[in-house]
Amino acid sequence: MAEVVIVPSAEAAGELVADSIAALIATKPDAVLGFATGSTPLPVYRALQSRGLDLSAVRGFALDEYVGLPPGHPESYRAVITREVVEPLGLRPELVRVPGDDGGPLEGAGGRYERDIVSAGGVDLQLLGIGRTGHIGFNEPGSSFGSLTRVKTLTVQTRADNARFFDSPDEVPTHCLTQGLGTILRARHLVLLAFGEGKAPAIAAAVEGPLTASAPGSAVQLHPRVSVVIDEAAASQLVNADYYRYAWEHRLPWENL
Ligand code: PGA
Repeated sequence: MAEVVIVPSAEAAGELVADSIAALIATKPDAVLGFATGSTPLPVYRALQSRGLDLSAVRGFALDEYVGLPPGHPESYRAVITREVVEPLGLRPELVRVPGDDGGPLEGAGGRYERDIVSAGGVDLQLLGIGRTGHIGFNEPGSSFGSLTRVKTLTVQTRADNARFFDSPDEVPTHCLTQGLGTILRARHLVLLAFGEGKAPAIAAAVEGPLTASAPGSAVQLHPRVSVVIDEAAASQLVNADYYRYAWEHRLPWENL
């Protein structure tokens, strides 16, 4: 099952996940990281930055990208990853990929991205946020558990949630390219983060709900190594929260994230 770790704050989550990434990079300097965008993973990137690790050999694949934004738009995920991850952490830009960034046509971009992930040896550690619709990546409700990188239509809810990053809600694209649930499940370690009460229903559905394409986050229950790192508010609808706290307090010395 997933290891659910309930932490006091987003900053504490960032430190914990940064520990896990630092340990991975110590053994594999050219590790492949799966990057998420949005507000949720920012504490992880900040915690990593403060450690001053040499990440120049790290390779990365972003989960998703909008379709239809003008090239260079500051809210394209290519621009966000450059600003929040590549530059502050000192990664080499040419080693960090975003869906659809290979210059080829949109049609077939998903298959090409899949091939590139496989050629890199697969993702070692995949960071994930979760949307209020329950999406991971941009896999909105109804996404197949076997889905691979492809074009998806964003829900009205997701477009409204992401409007805060744009000058007007109409500017939020209607489409995206996203890794599929099947792509995400191939990563060797999934780290799902969520903070705040607004994420509590989606976390409860992902961790404790039935496996269903209607709650795409529930796909993580199929993965052998998942760490769900959440604050008290995001954990507030978990039936077994006390057990998760107990299990984490009683973890064995070698049991990290
Ligand atoms: P957020 O988005 O981190 O900005 O809340 C998460 C998501 O939509 O996956």
